[in-house]
Amino acid sequence: MTTAILSALAQEQQGLAHALDQRQTITHAGRQFEVGALHGQPVVLALSGIGKVAAATTTAALIERFGAQRLVFTGVAGGMGADVHVGDVVVAKQFLQHDMDARPLFARWQVPGYATPAFDCDPSLTRDLLQAAQDCVATAGSWQEPMLAGLQLRAHCGLIASGDQFIVSAQTSHLICQDLQTAGYQPLAVEMEGAAIAQTCADYAVPFAAVRTISDRADDNAHVDFPAFVNAVASRYAQHIIAHWLQH
Ligand code: ADE
Repeated sequence: MTTAILSALAQEQQGLAHALDQRQTITHAGRQFEVGALHGQPVVLALSGIGKVAAATTTAALIERFGAQRLVFTGVAGGMGADVHVGDVVVAKQFLQHDMDARPLFARWQVPGYATPAFDCDPSLTRDLLQAAQDCVATAGSWQEPMLAGLQLRAHCGLIASGDQFIVSAQTSHLICQDLQTAGYQPLAVEMEGAAIAQTCADYAVPFAAVRTISDRADDNAHVDFPAFVNAVASRYAQHIIAHWLQH
């Protein structure tokens, strides 16, 4: 079974790329795909770049051209839930597009043609990823990483909101959150690709799960916190979580 491991940015995945055995680089659709083996399992690594369209085309290429039979996303996100802090990990149970709005033709957040606004992740992959995320936050304290010093890291599982918008204001974040809460949705994190990957995987009936480490709080400091976290520790989380997940 070929597993696709997708991230938006190189910094989110570089440790995995270095660990790849029998590595072969293939250029396709303007992207580089790294085919090889991780912990003895066939994988293809890909970087989508940022945003929903880039994520959707990369996902389609992974399935159509590289035969991916299951897909896992690993990367960072902005924390939205009140108790979701920098360094925590959120495993997605569902995704929705917070910027989808075809009212009055369709209900808010509804992607026309689908049953509900939220796309479910594969329950079994999600359960295994959550276990790997829990193991990661339990050991991250021993990494001696200054950025994580003194933090009580936690792993969460729930809804992640995606949109073509980098959220850099607490006000915007609260508005998105409040809006979603009026409809019963409790977003834990926000990012820019997951819902598009979930929708594409639903189209192809390919199991999908996603893990996002919190790089910032999607607030007025996000533009500073995001690059600092991405450059310092994002790849380490990915390596730990994916290694644990592939080996269990
Ligand atoms: N990914 C990481 N942080 C984010 C933010 N603040 N907004 C959107 N996507 C993000």
